[in-house]
Formats: sequence, structure tokens, C-alpha cells
Amino acid sequence: MYSPAQEQQLFSAAKEILSHSGAELSAINTLRQILRWADWRYYVQSEPALADQEYDAIFKKLQTLEQSHPELITPDSPTQRVAKALSERFPAVAHLVPMLSLDNTYNAEDLSDWDRKVREGAGDSLVEYCVEPKYDGASVSLIFDQNHLQRGATRGDGIMGEDITQNVRQIRSIPLSAELAACGIKQIEIRGEVVIHKSVFEDFNKQRVAEGLSPLANPRNAASGTLRMLDPNEVSKRKLSAILYHISDVELLPGSDRPRALKKHYDSLQWLAQLGFPTPAKEMKCFTDIAEVISYCSEFESRRDSLPFEVDGLVIKVNDLALQEKLGMTSHHPGWATAYKFSARQATSKLREVQFQVGRTGSITPVGKIDPVSIGGVTVSSLSLFNEDVIREKDLHIGDTVLVERAGDVIPYIVKALSELRTGAEQAIQFPQGCPECGEALERPQDEAVWRCINIDCPAQVVERMIHFCSKDAMDIRGMGEGIVTKFFENGILRTIPDLYQLDWKKVAALDGFKEKSLNNLRTAIENSKTQTLARLIFGLGIRHVGETTAKTLANNITQLRELYDWTEARLLSLEDVGPKVAASITHFFAQPELRHTLDQLEAAGLNLENSARQDAVSGVFSGKSFLFTGTLEQMKRSDAEALVEARGGKILGGVSSKLNYLIVGADAGSKLEKAKKLGTVVILTEAAFLELAGS
Ligand code: IVH
Repeated sequence: MYSPAQEQQLFSAAKEILSHSGAELSAINTLRQILRWADWRYYVQSEPALADQEYDAIFKKLQTLEQSHPELITPDSPTQRVAKALSERFPAVAHLVPMLSLDNTYNAEDLSDWDRKVREGAGDSLVEYCVEPKYDGASVSLIFDQNHLQRGATRGDGIMGEDITQNVRQIRSIPLSAELAACGIKQIEIRGEVVIHKSVFEDFNKQRVAEGLSPLANPRNAASGTLRMLDPNEVSKRKLSAILYHISDVELLPGSDRPRALKKHYDSLQWLAQLGFPTPAKEMKCFTDIAEVISYCSEFESRRDSLPFEVDGLVIKVNDLALQEKLGMTSHHPGWATAYKFSARQATSKLREVQFQVGRTGSITPVGKIDPVSIGGVTVSSLSLFNEDVIREKDLHIGDTVLVERAGDVIPYIVKALSELRTGAEQAIQFPQGCPECGEALERPQDEAVWRCINIDCPAQVVERMIHFCSKDAMDIRGMGEGIVTKFFENGILRTIPDLYQLDWKKVAALDGFKEKSLNNLRTAIENSKTQTLARLIFGLGIRHVGETTAKTLANNITQLRELYDWTEARLLSLEDVGPKVAASITHFFAQPELRHTLDQLEAAGLNLENSARQDAVSGVFSGKSFLFTGTLEQMKRSDAEALVEARGGKILGGVSSKLNYLIVGADAGSKLEKAKKLGTVVILTEAAFLELAGS
């Protein structure tokens, strides 16, 4: 797609533009090229080339130029993904070629049967198979006409779909234009799957829970639900991805020959990747023998959890496109492809009991206890039922046989009750009248799905607030997990958050199971938390509806935490991502005298409520330095490590080169490490050494 020389050129152009205030009109095309390249690096290659702030700065420059010269705006400009909300349903559109689904196989025998049929149909031709992941998302059809993305549609009933072009334009891995005419192509229809990255899905659900909403069940539902949202801006926030795996229709420009790559499926996807499209190109493997396909399938299944997207099987396709045509279609399925489905991550069990847990904001969460059942190698015996509405919608009863699903790393959930198996002995689930912990009355605000205990001193809430304060994404006090906080609370050692900083260590030492080493570790962890960022402190305070993102936004807009005492709802509303509900919650939170007292105590204990001083001190340590990660990190996700580099002013490079300063090496590092060693100019660090360097 981009040669190293082109990448270097775009990178230098970006730096050049960033070093000037403003931008010249003559740079308008360069700005677009840089942004398209940065999108491709970030969304297709998963190897960012620019820091977020750099990207934003270039984006703003382009926007400013386009605003003063609207006549120069092109539909494929990176600024033009933004769109207005639709007022009603999506228009129905006819597919150029019916969108069929695939026949399924579940084992070696099924695959061998399918292979036999293919070989019968193939006659004397040699059969080669291409195997690629079966992505679990929502299928889409994309039409590019004269180089531009013209239409995006859902599958619908396979004949008619819904026109979701504006939403598809929000998917940053899908280019808005591509150099197809140069390959002799007037129009092309490409099919693929819209998916959501597992980590994006997790973050998204965390945010929903922080906002008092129930989490979405799995990445598949999240992807398909998002694609059909009426407001493209909301779609954009959900950070969908796409993977394109099939060319279903091609119309050539007059006098042009069909590109040579369009003879084999494998080559066609490599060709799409070359043009900048996201494809499974790197994940595809070809085989001539079905036995090899079968062993690859089982090997791949064993590592399905390590993939960034949810994959529910593999798709085996005949590689030769002429042979595909010869094998043709039945009314439902193509004869040239089949899906090999991984073993189900669903199982049935009995719902025995529902317990009610009190969260840190007083929310009452029903938790279902089921007969332990193994799903995809993990035993599940307890799962969240989210809220009363979910129980009612699914019509769950105690004693029901329930279908449980676990999608990858995602939390298990009840898909449905098998009502046909009821005996009549099942019992309705009674929601408690009062708080199961303190007995106080429960309240359910009109527009919310959850009941809440309104007693701010409810012991369950107090403990949950402290657990949250100490948690990894908040103050990150290692060793202060749920078990220890609860134990300290029950023993009267810890009653409020400020108590953490004045623990009676003699009492702690007297508790069972506390050795000197763990005690010292805990002490250090608590001490270190005093220098956490203001954003983490704000997040740790557990303000309702304030997740990590909002906490960061707040921290970035103040120099002293107490400034928020005077912020009005109107002022809060001027911040990005802060809506009326969040603003009301923040003002209510900071108006509480108890909270103000807590902050005074925390400050007296040595926590820093100031922003600028601390952030400046740490922010610049990596400034001017470049980093690259290789292998598997143990203490943090790669995306978090990269964010840390950027937060400290460093940048992430896409590969090992003489420009690279630091290579951070995790487990099973490969060729990057070898290359860096050969270069001899790169500092090679372990993950621990890197964290130390980052002061984290
Ligand atoms: S090929 C004409 N390849 O699985 C057949 N499908 O029932 C074109 N899917 O509807 C489909 N990953 O939504 C193909 N690598 C892949 C796929 C894939 C996921 C979905 C697709 C399809 C369903 C099969």
C-alpha cells in the first residue's frame, strides 16, 4: 500500500506541518494524504504512526482550511466522515448479487464430505483451498464506484438490505476512496464483516456500567446494533472495525482487462490489502489437501482467544475463482465455500438462585447462581442478570433451564430460558423491597433500569467505593483488592478512603495471612498511589456516570480539583462527552460536604490535588524519544503501554529502524528483537525496566 519511502515522506510532511502554526492552502492535499495514511496505519495495520494529539492537530488544520474554502471539500476528505443523524429508518436497497450465507461443518468428517463434493464438481482440475477466520460480527456489502465508496448496506434478507452508507463511513478502517480506476475497475462490490475489537468492546461496556446502563451481551450484538443506529456520530464513537473477505461483483472500465489478481481468492484479498482495504490477508493459509485443512482448523481453534476480534470458526474457500464459478450456488449456499464452526460456547444449566449485590453507587445487581457448567474450558456458576428489565424481558424463573453463552473473553450471560422445558415448579424472581445489605428503601429513577440503595453510608457501598478507588484503572493500589478491602473493613481497620493513608500497620500485621513481605508491598503500593494522576484520582472517587474518559476530560480542564466545587452544570456541559446527566451528577457530587471533607483529608495525607505541576513533571520524560513494543506484555495491554508512552511525550514507531530509540520486549519476541540487536543503536528494555523508566 505505502512503500517505506512514501511512509517516510508522509511522516516528514506531518512533522513539517506540525511545526508551523496554521497551514497553507497549498497543503490541503498533503494534509488529506497524511490523515488517510495515519488512518490506515492505525485502523488497518494496528501500528499507529502519529500520536493522537498530532493527528488531531493535522485534522484541525485541514478543517480550518476547508471551512474557509468550502468549494475545495471533496467527499472523500477525512473530515467528511461526519454526518447528520437520520430521522427515521434506513432505506431498503437491492443487492447486486444475493448475499448468501455459508453451509456449516462441525468436524473432520463433515469437512471430508464437503471436500469430496468439491472434487466431484471439479472434475480434473486441481483443488486448492484457502482458509481464513470466520469473523463474528455483522455482514456488510460495500460498493465502490469510480474510486469512491458509494454505498454500504446490511445483509437484510440477502436480496434486500438496508442502506447504511453514513454509518459505514464512520468505520475508520474502511477507506472512503481507493485507486481502483488505475486497475481498470469502474465499480466493485466487496463484502465483509463489521466487527468490534474485543478491548474496545470491554472499554465500552465498562463505560456503560459506569453510566448506570446494562452492558451489551457480546461484540457481535454490539457491532450489528451499532451499524443500525440512526446517529452516525454515535456510530463513530463506538469505534467499529471491518474486515473484507469477498469480491462479489466487478464492472470494468471500457477497454480494460480484468486485474490478474482476480483469478484466485487469495490473490484478490492480497490485492485489496494493497489498495488499503482491511482484509484477513495476513491470516489466510492455502492447502491442497483436506487433511491439512483439518489439522489447521484444530490448531487455529486452540488459539481463538488470542485474536483481537471474536472468531466463531474458519471459512474454507476454493481458491480458484473460475472453479468457484463452476461449483456454483444452491439456493442458500455457495458450493465453493463452507464454514467450519468452532465448538459452541453455549451450554445449558439450571438457574437455582438469584442474589442481589449492592454496587458502589448503590445499584442493585441481580446475580444468577447456576449449576456449574463448563463452556469453552471455563466453568461458569455465577453470572450477572444485569437488572430487573433484563429478567422480565427474558422471563427468567428460578428453576428454569437456561442457555448460557460465553463469547471469548467476554463475561458469560444467559441467552434465554428454555420455557418448553418448564415443569410448573419454577418460581418468579422476587426483587427485594429494601437494600439487601442495610435495609434502606430502594429507588428507581424514571429513566434508569436499575434500582438503587439511597443510603450513602450503606456498608456494601462504602466497601465497593474503596475497592473501586484502589482498582487498577483508578489509583492502582496492588494488593488492595476486593478480599483485603473487605477484610480490613470487617476488622475496623478501614472505614473510609482516607483511612488507607493512615492504616494501623500493627493491626494489619496481626491479621491472619499477613507476612512481612506482603505488608511491605502493600505499604509501598499505597505510598506510590499518592502520586497518581489527577484523572485517576477523579475516576477513583467513583462519581456516578463518570468513567475514565470523562475523568480525563475533567482533569485536563482544571489545575486544582477544588475548582470543580464552583463549576456549574452549564460550564460542565461545554466539555466534550459531558451530557446533562453527567453534569448533574458531577455538580451534585462536589456539593456534598462529606466529599469536601474527604478531599481535605486526602490532601493532608499527601495526595496531590493539583494538575499542572505533577503532569508537567512526568509528561515530558519520553519527549523526542521513539518506542516500539514486541512480544506479549505481562503487566499491561499493549494499547495501554503505547498510551503511556504517548502520555509521557514519546511516540510509537511502526517498525525497527535507525530512528528507533527503545524496543520493549515481552514474551516470545521475534524478528523485531533480532533486527534491533543487529542495528546496535536501539536500547532494548524489559517490560519492568520500561515501567520504571516511565515512572509508572
Ligand atoms: S464468505 C458467498 N468469509 O459468515 C459467501 N463469510 O454464514 C460469502 N463471515 O454471512 C461469505 N467471516 O457474514 C465469508 N471470512 C469470511 C467470513 C464470513 C465471517 C460471515 C458472513 C456470512 C456468514 C456465513
